[in-house]
Amino acid sequence: MKEKITEFLAERIPIRSIETHVKKPLPKHINWLFSLGAMALFLLILQAATGAFLAIYYSPSPDHAYNSLNYISKEVPFGGFVRGLHHWGASAMVIVVFLHLLRVVVYDSYKAPRELTWIVGVLLLLVVLGFGFTGYLLPWDQKAYWATVVGAKIASTVPIIGDAIGRIMRGGEEVGAVTLTRFYAIHTIWLPWIAFGLVGLHLFLVRHIGSSGLPKNTPKDMDAGKPFYPDQLFEDSVAILILFGVLVVMALFVPVPTEEIADPTDASYDPRPEWYFLFLFQLLKYFEGRFEVVGTFVIPTVAILLLFLVPFLSRKERLPIHKRPVALTVTSISVLSLISLTILGLRSPRLDSTASTASEADQSKVHRSTDTEVFDFGLEEEN
Ligand code: HEM
Repeated sequence: MKEKITEFLAERIPIRSIETHVKKPLPKHINWLFSLGAMALFLLILQAATGAFLAIYYSPSPDHAYNSLNYISKEVPFGGFVRGLHHWGASAMVIVVFLHLLRVVVYDSYKAPRELTWIVGVLLLLVVLGFGFTGYLLPWDQKAYWATVVGAKIASTVPIIGDAIGRIMRGGEEVGAVTLTRFYAIHTIWLPWIAFGLVGLHLFLVRHIGSSGLPKNTPKDMDAGKPFYPDQLFEDSVAILILFGVLVVMALFVPVPTEEIADPTDASYDPRPEWYFLFLFQLLKYFEGRFEVVGTFVIPTVAILLLFLVPFLSRKERLPIHKRPVALTVTSISVLSLISLTILGLRSPRLDSTASTASEADQSKVHRSTDTEVFDFGLEEEN
């Protein structure tokens, strides 16, 4: 029976060449860090699946968004669980993709002939952050609303075209109904299509070129190791199951943080982005007045451009990280800065977000109405 089915399929689809392909041996000594890419892929699929269920009940309008999510959490069978998976899955995605990128850097896996795989990877990183930014507005609570107001202001500081970008992002002068539908469309249609297209290309390149394994002149490397199927696939599956287990526990026991419904008149609210944008938020505090653009535009743009150029900065052969002092130093400083800025951002005190009168708003040092500043962070109060 098995042979008959195999025969039937083999006459119609190239299963034999697929079989040879997936049984091709990978380099030896691949460890579990090489499962991070598969974990990222799993998370992308999990986000798409949970998001598809959320979209059945969610309503992207200021009048209904907040309540529809409340309804999902409290009334819909398994709604709170699915929402929890989607919420914590988003954070996991950022962590896993970041660790995957670090793995690629540490093992020198971006060098020729893998430059294009890396570039597509950087695009995927931006897409993942785009998912985070657009998704943050959808609950339409206070933090969602005001973080988007600040996000659009940051975009407006881009020289020359900034105003236009800010207006396109908001769909007008204010964050409102148009912004919400726009973000919803980007979050649920544009970005998923782009993400799955890029992942397809990424994986095609990975399979076509073959996995890098350890850097070449480590003594153990490069003899043929285990095949992708079944060995590596088994290890990937174990890593994915553990990750899924953690997410299930989080979704069951840690409620999704939600604030009051968005109040566009509450100018005293102290905005704060999701944790993975906190480093940027913290960075902005060090650049005031006319130097603001350095934090909002110059540093992020240079960092992203440099990230794209990473594979072209050195044409040397692949080496283990301890033999690459420059890469080791730059990577360590970057990672430590990101972590320190995030911790500083987490620890910076909140202004009183319950106050809502105009006079309290004045005292609170949050000046959203000025055109030149994203906002004044009230550094005097924090020091
Ligand atoms: C949604 C995001 C991503 C997904 C789903 C994904 C998926 C994968 C998978 C499944 C692999 C093969 C297994 C492995 O080596 O771990 C891989 C390899 C690779 N990825 Fe990604 N990736 C993503 C993001 C990134 C990012 C942000 C970068 C770097 C900027 C990157 C660069 C690479 C490179 C250079 C390889 C080849 C590694 C080698 O041959 O050893 N990827 N990716």
